[in-house]
Amino acid sequence: MCGIIGYTGPLEARKLLLDGLAGLEYRGYDSAGIAYFDQDSQIRLVKTVGKVAALREMVGGGREELSHCGIGHTRWATHGGVTNANAHPHRFGSVTLIHNGIIENYHQLTEEFCLEGRLMSQTDSEVAAGVLDAMYQACGRDPLAAIRDFTKKLSGSYGFCILFEDRPGEIYAVRRVSPLVAAYTHSGSLVASDLTALIAYTRKYFVVPEDAIVRLTPYKVRVYDMDFNRVEPEYMEVNWNMDAAMKNGFPHFMLKEIHEQPEALKNTILPRVSRGIPDFTEDHIPDHLFETANRIQIIACGTAMHAGMVARALMEPLLRIPVTVSIASEFRYEEPLIDKNTLVIVISQSGETIDTLAAMSLAQSRKAPVLAIVNVKGSTIARESDYVLYTHAGPEIAVASTKAYSVQLAALYMVCCRMALVRGKYTEEQAQEFLKELLDAIPAMEAMIGKKDAIKALVTHLINQHDTFFIGRGLDYAFSLEGALKLKEISYIHAEAYAAGELKHGTIALISDRVPVIAIATQEHIFAKTVSNVREVKARGAFVILLAKESAQVEEYIADAQVRIPDIADAFTVFPIAVVLQLIAYYASVGKNLDVDQPRNLAKSVTVE
Ligand code: AGP
Repeated sequence: MCGIIGYTGPLEARKLLLDGLAGLEYRGYDSAGIAYFDQDSQIRLVKTVGKVAALREMVGGGREELSHCGIGHTRWATHGGVTNANAHPHRFGSVTLIHNGIIENYHQLTEEFCLEGRLMSQTDSEVAAGVLDAMYQACGRDPLAAIRDFTKKLSGSYGFCILFEDRPGEIYAVRRVSPLVAAYTHSGSLVASDLTALIAYTRKYFVVPEDAIVRLTPYKVRVYDMDFNRVEPEYMEVNWNMDAAMKNGFPHFMLKEIHEQPEALKNTILPRVSRGIPDFTEDHIPDHLFETANRIQIIACGTAMHAGMVARALMEPLLRIPVTVSIASEFRYEEPLIDKNTLVIVISQSGETIDTLAAMSLAQSRKAPVLAIVNVKGSTIARESDYVLYTHAGPEIAVASTKAYSVQLAALYMVCCRMALVRGKYTEEQAQEFLKELLDAIPAMEAMIGKKDAIKALVTHLINQHDTFFIGRGLDYAFSLEGALKLKEISYIHAEAYAAGELKHGTIALISDRVPVIAIATQEHIFAKTVSNVREVKARGAFVILLAKESAQVEEYIADAQVRIPDIADAFTVFPIAVVLQLIAYYASVGKNLDVDQPRNLAKSVTVE
């Protein structure tokens, strides 16, 4: 959840760290700080609540403090409130460090190392600094030995960047579960929580191996196992460019990423089409994975889980096997009914969501084969799954997921089609027709992007309300889940997704002229039923926005406003509908002058429980 960066080399470190933190801010933005060696090889530390811009003000720009080595951190609070004292970096004795993750045994460590009364903050990270300092003193100030002994004491997740006061110019990094990438570049040595902080300096990087120690010096990066043997890192190539991580003229990353969806779908679908049908040969995903499964278990969080809900509504009627969708944070503590015949599909944009990672491990412990649908190349979930189907949306910077949702759906639809083909539910012609209809969804998305001004005008009916309902049936109900989340997380308007037919069993009591309703009615076989529900809420004063196909026959007065999508096949309406729901949320947030890309309390990747 936090942004981490470390640099040592010939460039001015403070500016590089601050620029890097600005690019990492989407990972967490409660507070920020840097620590660096000054020209007297003393460690200077500057930190503050608020965003990187506030930190930049504090650091100033004076050349008198030229530095070439330092670490930086943006925080999403887990232990301890949002205060200057709790901001990272944390210094204890000879150690200054930054941390992403959760040290679960920090209370016990506080006692074991008699840290009570010696701490300046309420954080587990400062306790970690105290423990490492004790280890450092105990092993004769040998960084590798101290870090090895230190990690043996820890339980939980961590990504650390560490400075030792008597090791100017050196940075040490170590991780368990929390992400860290590193690279030696012509500009110096870098380590960070993700690629957005490295991409300006290099396209080649490596993922810091777990339980290995990385030593960064201005002219080399060395990796050691816990017996201090050199380990050659496996360098990888970045598959996107710096522009992809910039706004390119859009007012917000979210709007840019909404616009990028048609391209993202093409990039995800087209490389996997041969003879007009989905083909996962290049992804090394064998057909036997699809032929033998007697059920499917989908596991994810948030928007990714909502993509799973849509996939379930699509897959079950077609494949005629049970398809279950579980919230990862629930699944990991259940006794799931899965085994080697269950195909487990985990979905994650970041590939670092700790709940999804833990749920995947549980599934694998039950011998279930795991297929991961992931957007970030080389991420933890991608590396630890049995099979990975990468989506190609490019970096998604806005905290609210948009293009990642669409490409997750595209990947799930292609998996469904391939499964139907290999299990004899589809002929080759039917599979080709399915794929054609999937590709037809792309211009339908473009059409809805083209209607953004009309959608923006509708939002005025929402932004002064405190509650909103999204209703639908079947696939439309699955779509409504994501619509409600989008609105909540960036406009702070409470929104609830509800099965339209269920409203009358109690919840309709909440409907009034202060509760707008967004009704999604794209499924022709149940269209009339949803329209009846629209009439019910309308009769109780709700302002209703109806989302339906161009060809839908319904009286004009049935709703207060309508948004029509192109007439594509029912199963594929999620793609244009997703754009409408995203734009509704986006313009509601903008209309309320909120921070669209970095909403309060949130962060882009939830790498803590
Ligand atoms: C989406 O708008 C949210 N930011 C959040 O629900 C997100 O989808 C969820 O945290 C899962 O993240 P992941 O896809 O990276 O695993």
